[in-house]
Amino acid sequence: MSITVRDVRAFKERGERFAMLTAYDFHSARLLDRAGIPVLLVGDTLGMVVLGHDSTLPVTVDDIVHHSAAVARGATEALVVADMPFMSYQASGDEAIHNAGRMLKEGGAHAVKLEGGARVTDLVGRMVQAGIPVMGHLGLTPQSVNQLGGYKVQGRDEEAAHGIIEDAKALEAAGVFSLVLEAVPSDLAREVTTGLAVPTIGIGAGPECDGQVLVFHDFLGLTDGRPPKFVKRYADLGDAIETAARTFADEVADGTYPNADHSYG
Ligand code: KIV
Repeated sequence: MSITVRDVRAFKERGERFAMLTAYDFHSARLLDRAGIPVLLVGDTLGMVVLGHDSTLPVTVDDIVHHSAAVARGATEALVVADMPFMSYQASGDEAIHNAGRMLKEGGAHAVKLEGGARVTDLVGRMVQAGIPVMGHLGLTPQSVNQLGGYKVQGRDEEAAHGIIEDAKALEAAGVFSLVLEAVPSDLAREVTTGLAVPTIGIGAGPECDGQVLVFHDFLGLTDGRPPKFVKRYADLGDAIETAARTFADEVADGTYPNADHSYG
């Protein structure tokens, strides 16, 4: 590993914006690592984009450990952050530390991410004390989708915005090395960002965060339907894969593939 949590903090100190992408397997991690993406997040979006669930809630600790280990084998430079899935840290502090430890020991991750504000600050402090770097996550916290009533922009009214600002300060005081801000108005993200020494990493949080994160399948055009407003598709791999698969099937059917070039003499 060459990028450390200290480097991530230093990006902000030097005013350098940085990218984070989600990764779930060896080959994609290797490609993103080669492309110089400094932080790879083994997000619990795994449940939706890789495992086909309709929310992140079914994801287990074993799922994240398994995929994190693959990502860690593929990434030689990037910092690998493993997401703590739903109910892996909410029930008890001891269980949370044990599960976070598994992310590092078995999953090869260098840090963990967890969702929530004031309610998780004690836990963040304990993890940091135990030598486990923590990335926070505020705004739209998808593990609370049932409480939030859907995947909606958060912090729109003054009270909610104030709550997010206070939660961000509390997380920084507890020791997070960075903070994901998901689906909040740009003005609020700017206020949080300027108020913290640690970097913010936005997703649907406007241009003024210190870093930006996108989900692998979204930014490469691998997901169906219209993506959320904040997603920019940097490639159309979904179409490319469908076209390649059709061409392969046609060539098998008409005998074009394999030819002598692909056959042993
Ligand atoms: O699980 C995930 O991929 C995430 C990102 C969207 C930040 O939490």
